[in-house]
Amino acid sequence: MVTIDEVRLFDIQEVGEVLKTTWLDTYSAYLSAETIKKVTDFWLDPELLKTQIMDPEVLFLAAKDETSAIVGLATALRIEPTTLQLARLYVLPEKQRQGIGTLLLERVIKKMSYIKTIRVEVEENNLRGISFCLKQGFSKVGVKQDIVEDTVLLAVVMEKAI
Ligand SMILES: CC(C)(COP(=O)(O)OP(=O)(O)OC[C@H]1O[C@@H](n2cnc3c(N)ncnc32)[C@H](O)[C@@H]1OP(=O)(O)O)[C@@H](O)C(=O)NCCC(=O)NCCS
Repeated sequence: MVTIDEVRLFDIQEVGEVLKTTWLDTYSAYLSAETIKKVTDFWLDPELLKTQIMDPEVLFLAAKDETSAIVGLATALRIEPTTLQLARLYVLPEKQRQGIGTLLLERVIKKMSYIKTIRVEVEENNLRGISFCLKQGFSKVGVKQDIVEDTVLLAVVMEKAI
């Protein structure tokens, strides 16, 4: 059984491992090894994760299995008065397609009851992510260019009305 709880400071190391494993599985097919190293060093810096965990404006949730191991993570924050950005939604590769992503998204929405719109940016080659979002009722509202360590990535911006 999977339970959802807020990420705590003592979770930091495990959070970094889950993000790294999932991130590599998702993006290593189309990013260079050098870019991957730079990005993971930056995004998974424990100090950055600590800031996010301690920030009262950031909702940072973990899905844990029956052994209390983290199997999925979601981060969300308000970007407009009634719009929430789902900044991260990651489920360990071997735990995907078991409803954990849906559970995390539902909990984010439940915890942020003021929201009217939820926004997500999914890299255009990330077909898993796009498929998940479409299935959850998100629709495309635009595209955005991200420059990640000299690599230009196109993100599909998707929104869902709550
Ligand atoms: C996107 C993600 C969070 C979904 O989590 P999940 O726990 O697998 O999601 P659920 O089990 O609740 O939903 C399953 C749906 O997600 C999509 N999906 C999940 N894994 C997939 C895969 N390996 N291949 C294709 N689609 C997949 C499909 O739409 C699937 O529905 P289906 O099984 O009927 O085809 C997960 O795949 C992930 O962590 N991906 C890497 C990070 C990422 O892309 N994040 C951005 C998403 S906003």
